[in-house]
Amino acid sequence: MKELVIKDLWASVNGEMILHGVNLTIPRGEIHAIMGPNGNGKSTLAKVIAGAPEYLVERGEVMLDGENILNMEADERARKGVFLAFQYPVEIPGVTVANFLRLAIQARTGEEVQFMAFYTKLQKSLALLQWDESWVNRYLNEGFSGGEKKRNEILQMLMLEPSIAIMDETDSGLDIDALKVVCQGVNAMRGENFSALIVTHYQRILDMIEPDKVHIMVDGRIVQTGDKSLATKLEAQGYEWVKDYAASLPKPVFSANSPSGAVL
Ligand SMILES: Nc1ncnc2c1ncn2[C@@H]1O[C@H](COP(=O)(O)OP(=O)(O)O)[C@@H](O)[C@H]1O
Ligand SMILES: [Mg+2]
Repeated sequence: MKELVIKDLWASVNGEMILHGVNLTIPRGEIHAIMGPNGNGKSTLAKVIAGAPEYLVERGEVMLDGENILNMEADERARKGVFLAFQYPVEIPGVTVANFLRLAIQARTGEEVQFMAFYTKLQKSLALLQWDESWVNRYLNEGFSGGEKKRNEILQMLMLEPSIAIMDETDSGLDIDALKVVCQGVNAMRGENFSALIVTHYQRILDMIEPDKVHIMVDGRIVQTGDKSLATKLEAQGYEWVKDYAASLPKPVFSANSPSGAVL
């Protein structure tokens, strides 16, 4: 079955354990949201899935379509279809948006990009994002505003067609019109070959991108899963109740002798 399966994932940074046994399954075709208080491991999870080298996986598995991706470098994961929005916020002098997209697609597929197909897709994607064609002649991230960077990430997503797109607070700092455009981009991707994990604090983005499931992360693990009404409840009541609930659960205990047998 095509899906992303995270099993008993523990990860640390600088010797401090941040993820305490995350379990999460995202079937292809579904869009899931993760909410939760600040500093509880949401971005860490996003980066561990994408393969950021500063995090050490202590235990567990991340399986994409039946294949453990934890031992792959970040670029290999990208080729497998993992996409992390805001992974490349760097400025690349002398590389235009169009060229970057062409190279990224080439790296993803391992095939020479056919100009006409590329151009047609580019025009379609730009139209969807309500962007002028001249945009792609700009140098990547050079002088981009915050909103433009985010919109550009969505353009990358549309062009790369990932299997799983991870969006870490894509909605923060966007004005309502820019948010709408970003959501249109994600909704256009919706389909049986696409899945997404949206990290957010706000119900607002989930009003526009209907999630199939909403998870809450506290202390580096998923403590509750529900439908969109969970997001509504958080918006209305805040995080206190869920922190209390998390504190009432048995503490997960790390054991190096894990049967899951990942990197120790
Ligand atoms: N690269 C890093 N170096 C040091 N500490 C980190 C790093 N990344 C995350 N952390 C720490 O891990 C915890 C969880 O952070 P994060 O995953 O960013 O939380 P969230 O996204 O839920 O706000 C925080 O205490 C944060 O300071
Ligand atoms: Mg974060």
